[in-house]
Amino acid sequence: MAIRNIVLEGEPILYKKCREVENFDDRLGILIDDMIDTMKNSRGVGLAAPQVGILKRVLVIDVGDGVIELVNPEIVESSGEQIEEEGCLSCPGFYAKTLRPMFVTVKGKNRHGEEVKYTGKALKARAFCHEIDHLDGILFKSRIV
Ligand code: NI
Repeated sequence: MAIRNIVLEGEPILYKKCREVENFDDRLGILIDDMIDTMKNSRGVGLAAPQVGILKRVLVIDVGDGVIELVNPEIVESSGEQIEEEGCLSCPGFYAKTLRPMFVTVKGKNRHGEEVKYTGKALKARAFCHEIDHLDGILFKSRIV
């Protein structure tokens, strides 16, 4: 496991759409482990693969109740609204309020290619939305209200 460099706002890779993962191999496991280390080292609640320079649909989150890893995630249900302050490890020191759903259900795969499904409320819902946005090349700054 290793800590990778976090790509900062302004770098073109952060504005590109990521590719679906097709190979659930050791390389993917290493990427996910490194992303978890990198997120924890920066005390973030989430990290997406493009933030470490990899254009693949992979994210990790940890809002304090354990690490969730998701490959090829998609939001299958969302409801409610929340407007809360948000930040991003790629935009250090910048925080602003965004509009997000209060509840989301996300499905995707784990590192072994098995289907997983999670439901998040409040901060966790926000984290899922924020990280999935990264996979589509969207930074939270474009969600500011
Ligand atoms: Ni971010």
